[in-house]
Amino acid sequence: MNVLFIGYGRMGGALGDAWLKGGLVERLSIVDPGLSADAAAGRYARLQDVPTDQAFELIVLAVKPAYASSALAGLSDRQCSQATVVSVAAGVTQASLSDAVGQRCPVVRAMPNTPVLLGAGCTGLYAGAQLDAARKAVIGRLFEAVGAAYWVDEEQQLDAVTAISGSGPAYYHLFSEALAEAGVKLGLNPELARNLAAQTAFGAATLQHQAHADFIELRVAVTSPNGTTAAAIEVFESQRKLRALLEQATSAAHRRSVELSKGA
Ligand SMILES: NC(=O)c1ccc[n+]([C@@H]2O[C@H](COP(=O)([O-])OP(=O)(O)OC[C@H]3O[C@@H](n4cnc5c(N)ncnc54)[C@H](OP(=O)(O)O)[C@@H]3O)[C@@H](O)[C@H]2O)c1
Repeated sequence: MNVLFIGYGRMGGALGDAWLKGGLVERLSIVDPGLSADAAAGRYARLQDVPTDQAFELIVLAVKPAYASSALAGLSDRQCSQATVVSVAAGVTQASLSDAVGQRCPVVRAMPNTPVLLGAGCTGLYAGAQLDAARKAVIGRLFEAVGAAYWVDEEQQLDAVTAISGSGPAYYHLFSEALAEAGVKLGLNPELARNLAAQTAFGAATLQHQAHADFIELRVAVTSPNGTTAAAIEVFESQRKLRALLEQATSAAHRRSVELSKGA
């Protein structure tokens, strides 16, 4: 597959490197002003430097949202002729990206998260009705190569994906930070408290990741009546405090995602 990346920073680089390494794509062309240009290796500083007679099956847009539409300007008809554009730019709507490519090729939006960098990501994908099943399957496979990938039916659902899995890694990091701080207050040295929190997060995530794992069953399995875990869970669940807080926090993230997609 002949792929063009526009933007090859943290996210673009993680995707492109993983797809090349996994043999999912044979050839990458990259436009990024931060890389040293080398036309023979398919690296260009500007889109205008890419040969206009080259056709791409996939064009991945991975620049900051503010530059997303302008970065697509200048694609030639030939470059677009067989392409699907996949944009990872947070909050930039399909309609504005379709306008930016002059409606010449279908546009898919992807909302990955940072663990994509380690092949453990979670990506929400939205295509709309214009994309055929074969292209959808190819794009799904590409994002499954860096973790899990899930299609949503409505573009607005990407705001909810952003609030849950897009921003989600930061929620878990905050929980680990607070757990480590609590460990220090209980008399552990900071390094040990940090390691206990991180390894526990990893172990719990590994359990949750097993096929058919049920969150409630996993919790109940370590919560003996009248035991230590039960004492802590009672505090979390008192007046559903933790759940209410999460609902508030994810609503705030969702609201902000909607605002950003409206350019606020
Ligand atoms: N990182 C994440 O975890 C994450 C998660 C979900 C979605 N995203 C989305 O991914 C996109 C990229 O984020 P990132 O973290 O990878 O940013 P990044 O590391 O700053 O990468 C963006 C790259 O694009 C280059 N660039 C800027 N203008 C360009 C243009 N006109 N043509 C080609 N390349 C251009 C930048 O070069 P210069 O630095 O020289 O300007 C930079 O190398 C964003 O839209 C973000 O919303 C990121």
